[in-house]
Amino acid sequence: MRLSRSVAVFILFFTAGSGTTVYENEFTEEDTTPQLDYTNPYWCHPPGLTNGEVTCHSPRGRAYRSTLGTRCQMSCDRGYRLLGRRSVMCLANRRWSGTAYCRKMRCHVLPLIYHGRYTCTQGFMVDSRCDFTCDTGYRIEGEPSRICQHRGSWSGVQPVCSDTDPPKIKCPPSRLKVAEPGKLTAKVTWDPPTATDTAHKSLDVILVGQEPGTDFKEGLHIIRYKVYDQARNRAACKFIVRVEVRRCPELFPPLHGYLSCSSNGNNYGATCEYHCEGGYERRGVSSRVCQFNRSWGGDPAECVPIEIKADVKTAPALLDQFYEKRRLLIVSAPNMSDPDYQLQNIMIQKADCGLALRHVTVIELLGSPPRETGRIKESLLQPQVIEGLRQAFRISRSYFSMVLLDELGLDRERFISPVGSDELFSYIDSFLLDEEEREKLELRSDFCD
Ligand SMILES: *[C@@H]1O[C@H](CO)[C@@H](O)[C@H](O)[C@H]1NC(C)=O
Ligand SMILES: *[C@@H]1O[C@H](CO)[C@@H](O)[C@H](O)[C@H]1NC(C)=O
Repeated sequence: MRLSRSVAVFILFFTAGSGTTVYENEFTEEDTTPQLDYTNPYWCHPPGLTNGEVTCHSPRGRAYRSTLGTRCQMSCDRGYRLLGRRSVMCLANRRWSGTAYCRKMRCHVLPLIYHGRYTCTQGFMVDSRCDFTCDTGYRIEGEPSRICQHRGSWSGVQPVCSDTDPPKIKCPPSRLKVAEPGKLTAKVTWDPPTATDTAHKSLDVILVGQEPGTDFKEGLHIIRYKVYDQARNRAACKFIVRVEVRRCPELFPPLHGYLSCSSNGNNYGATCEYHCEGGYERRGVSSRVCQFNRSWGGDPAECVPIEIKADVKTAPALLDQFYEKRRLLIVSAPNMSDPDYQLQNIMIQKADCGLALRHVTVIELLGSPPRETGRIKESLLQPQVIEGLRQAFRISRSYFSMVLLDELGLDRERFISPVGSDELFSYIDSFLLDEEEREKLELRSDFCD
């Protein structure tokens, strides 16, 4: 009713609520009992309401806004709330029956939101609109603005800023690694992937696969990384680690010999050692290594029959040829028809392969001068060599005996009656072979069958 306002609204000083300025109606009290005058248009002070509207009904008509008996309705403008009387009457004591006041209405202070902010057109006043925005990496959920409604409450509900952007992760490039020398694995390392997120600094990066810096087996390995931000948004990446074992062509053992190889036999860094069977000795390199370029270092070695020069002049010259290479079994008997010798001879012939494996050479000394013979297989020894051996090892011509010498030419055991191969071998294996020789012998135990 804007039209009636200019007419109906007058400035009226009211006793308002506490804390507000109080004005008394301006009139003089002439009598204790005033004369009631229903015709006085200004019996009461003209009514008025700041930021509001006063609508009055006077029994005398429109022009008499503050005559005695006038009743006025108070209402506040939009955004204001009425405190006090909604309806007042001009009383006989020339006062209005009550007071009213329009107080500006506000909405409550809007709470702050996490990871976002708001800006308002007129603060928290009625009709103000507050627009919400979120920090980078966050998206608004709910209505992006709220309005302070005219009754002092906010429209809608408070929105939230939630992290909906997944993080980003970048894996290192795939890589190929050659297995380390002498191994079938490679130690592979890489820098952990870089993960970023618009919203969060702290991210959970999870490795799915083998740890860096550990030994990877030959073949393909897929390494995955997953990353979660605090809102459980996820990203992932992967790369491949390939381990290659470089191999040389297979190496063949020499004729009359064999190989013992380290590692996997023919992988990069593997070493193969050449060994020769009894009665043969190695000519050439003792071992070859499989190189990075997939070829074997050096040239193949050969196993050639051991050549013993029987026609030397002295016993030491003969023994020198065996020094650190061969063991010796010296068999001595008065003559070829000696029964012990014959029995032993049969047993030795049967044990020939086993003796060869154990690197034992047999020397026979038979009879007495001038028809004395000494021989290694078919090679005959000089008489002074025979004599030298008999003296050095105190071997009698008058009865059957055998002397076993180790690789240093030391007299280790003596037999005065024929022995079977089992007994002889078990003695050699237990006392004359070193650990490595025993192992090799075991590997080749079926060789003589
Ligand atoms: C392999 O490399 C070695 C040196 O490490 C070289 O002597 C040899 O000739 C190379 N072999 C081949 C087939 O390239
Ligand atoms: C062989 O030696 C034995 C003693 O061991 C002797 O009795 C025998 O007569 C010898 N035989 C020959 C043919 O010399």
